Amino acid sequence: MIRMGRLDEIERFREIERAAGAPFRDLGMARIADDEPPGADALALRVRADRLWVFADAKDIPVAYLMADPLGSHAHIEQVSVHPDVARRGLGAVLIEQAGRWGVSAGLADLTLCTFVGVAWNAPYYARLGFRAVPDDELDGRLAALRRHEGELGLDQWPRTVMVRSLTRTQ
Ligand SMILES: CC(C)(COP(=O)(O)OP(=O)(O)OC[C@H]1O[C@@H](n2cnc3c(N)ncnc32)[C@H](O)[C@@H]1OP(=O)(O)O)[C@@H](O)C(=O)NCCC(=O)NCCS
Repeated sequence: MIRMGRLDEIERFREIERAAGAPFRDLGMARIADDEPPGADALALRVRADRLWVFADAKDIPVAYLMADPLGSHAHIEQVSVHPDVARRGLGAVLIEQAGRWGVSAGLADLTLCTFVGVAWNAPYYARLGFRAVPDDELDGRLAALRRHEGELGLDQWPRTVMVRSLTRTQ
């Protein structure tokens, strides 16, 4: 079931993140697999703001999480991670729908995220969920700043893109 994440679960979110990142190693993207998960402060900030949702198993232990931020008129999915033990069961899609409901209730126009173009469970997956890629030269100021920041972090070593889905689709 979906519920809000809690402050006492922050280390569990970091565990999920590390496990979800591991498959990138098989694609020659060890740098991404080895990336440190978001820091405890960044996770706590989203928990306190009620913008971090989890999918919890039958024992109420989180197995997947999503955190989102308002970014201008966008509901921006900052991170979505599903533990590989429960991957490919639709949990990612369920969490993305939850982010969409939050975006609608917050009066935001669309859902956005940044992702890798060439990874099967990234851009092609989001495209199946109704997202479309936005070329960098069509981004508004906030999303363009985010992409520049990603470049500074070295993430552009592999092609990345912003993707967007209108929130009217989730109503
Ligand atoms: C992306 C992610 C959140 C999807 O979560 P999920 O619960 O597995 O997603 P769903 O069950 O809704 O859909 C899974 C779909 O992703 C694709 N996919 C997932 N794992 C895949 C793999 N190893 N190889 C190929 N396609 C894969 C498939 O299209 C799959 O659908 P299918 O099982 O019907 O073929 C999850 O794979 C994840 O945490 N990945 C690592 C972290 C990450 O990449 N985050 C996003 C960064 S932008």
